[in-house]
Amino acid sequence: MFRADLLHDKVVVVTGGGTGLGRSMSLRFAELGARLVLTSRTQGHLDAVAAEITAKGGQALAVACDVRRPEQVDAMVAAAVAHFGRIDVLVNNAAGNFLSQTETLSPNGFRTVVDIVLNGTFHCTSAVGKQLIAQGQGGSILSIVATYTDTGSAFVVPSACAKSGVLTMMRSLAVEWARHKIRCNAIAPGPFPTEGAFSRLIPPGLEDQMTAMAKHRIPAGRYGEHHELANLASYLLADESAYITGECVVIDGGERLMAGEFNAMTALDPTALGQIFSAMRPKK
Ligand code: COA
Repeated sequence: MFRADLLHDKVVVVTGGGTGLGRSMSLRFAELGARLVLTSRTQGHLDAVAAEITAKGGQALAVACDVRRPEQVDAMVAAAVAHFGRIDVLVNNAAGNFLSQTETLSPNGFRTVVDIVLNGTFHCTSAVGKQLIAQGQGGSILSIVATYTDTGSAFVVPSACAKSGVLTMMRSLAVEWARHKIRCNAIAPGPFPTEGAFSRLIPPGLEDQMTAMAKHRIPAGRYGEHHELANLASYLLADESAYITGECVVIDGGERLMAGEFNAMTALDPTALGQIFSAMRPKK
């Protein structure tokens, strides 16, 4: 899909880079020539991905940090700069989420998710942003949000509030930091299966039922595949997309549009539907 050197030499920091979509994006960026700084709370996950990248001839640095702790984020950024000499890109991918009935949610439960998603993204964006401004050569910040930033969603109130805040952060900084040639964008993925998210967001025993519901609900009739998201992220980070900033690209097989009043009728038998619509036409 892309030139093999699309991200040649770019130093890309990926939070939550040890597992799930963060891992898939990191592997793809490395294939396209990027040098990776992988960060998350679990050194073991990061080391495994770094080893995969180096085994294929790429370069990766694995630095554990909790995005909730600004001093750990600053140390991670300093380690990245010490190792690679600079940073070009930040991908805010680390997240925390769980399903809960909001009336049972404790203040600490709300705070914990907002702390990871919104405060954590701010800590990373601020630390990398200062570095990019000091380098004076521009850069790119990409945040993974969710389609429910527009609609809200039942049972994930802390995540929905925090992801909306992240999107607003990206749009605000797209303008504020344009003079530093720093682009700020977001991707809103629909359902992309990962162990971490699905184990938290799909109740045990309901996997098959939820998959059937998703196939029915998503116009594309399937979940997203990791390479599809990784390729979109690669495009948004590449210099070739330099005029895109402050944007949120949805990648969800059309799922978010299912509120359309008559969309549910697409599930009806097409022949029967044709007959119904023909019967409604004015008689000539
Ligand atoms: N329902 C309701 N409340 C929950 C909960 C759940 N499923 N899971 C955690 N909480 C509450 C806890 O009860 C606690 O509140 P309390 O002190 O009032 O009891 C608070 O959230 C913090 O929980 P804790 O387990 O101490 O936090 P943590 O920092 O260890 O874990 C989470 C953070 C809860 C977000 C955890 O899911 C996590 O680490 N996730 C990271 C990865 C992830 O979520 N990936 C998927 C992204 S889609």
